[in-house]
Amino acid sequence: MNRSSYNAIVAHWDVTRSTLLSYELAFLDLLLKNTQPPANILDLGCGTGRPIAEFLLKRGFRVTGVDEAENLLALARQRLPEGRWVQAPLETFEPDDQYDGAVIWDSLFHVQREHFEPVLRKVVQNLRPGARLMLTVGGSDHPPFTDTMYGQPFFYDSLTPEKTVSLLRSLGTAIEHAEFINPPTEGRDKGRYGIVASVA
Ligand SMILES: C[S@@+](CC[C@H](N)C(=O)[O-])C[C@H]1O[C@@H](n2cnc3c(N)ncnc32)[C@H](O)[C@@H]1O
Repeated sequence: MNRSSYNAIVAHWDVTRSTLLSYELAFLDLLLKNTQPPANILDLGCGTGRPIAEFLLKRGFRVTGVDEAENLLALARQRLPEGRWVQAPLETFEPDDQYDGAVIWDSLFHVQREHFEPVLRKVVQNLRPGARLMLTVGGSDHPPFTDTMYGQPFFYDSLTPEKTVSLLRSLGTAIEHAEFINPPTEGRDKGRYGIVASVA
């Protein structure tokens, strides 16, 4: 569902998602602390590559961007040919390299919860010692649900932030930073939670 929906809204998404927000810059600063170009960064659910992969590529980092929506990836390939763009679902993507950092930004909540652990495990296993992972997850535990954006249906799932943090710890990472980007409300907004974790 999400693949066809993101493909269908590519023009809207491209306009909406073009510039980094100030809190995203703060997360990227922490991700890249002590990491110099041309370190290689894995970006899972990279979308059009804007704005996160673009930020990294312009600073000389190498980026492998992975996304299942080919229409979004087509824009990434066209505008950011210096990146490596892979069309694959997060659930089945197999990293073929070791990375100095990873980004899973606003994409894990589109995956069914039973895949959270295996997706995070394979990312952590392919990070070099000292590397960091920055990610967002949903801000509350709720039954999986579908919401609409630009008239298209999108699937969402999430655990409580505490459960995600404990999952990341069980995978051997240390939590360097964690905060609500927006807390859940009683209504439609289930919240968003950002985490930076590092590999020993
Ligand atoms: C909300 S957008 C975020 C894009 C980008 N990370 C950003 O920060 O703008 C979610 C992205 O995740 C991708 N995505 C969602 N579920 C996916 C899955 N199971 N496998 C691969 N990509 C997925 C979508 O195609 C979309 O590009």
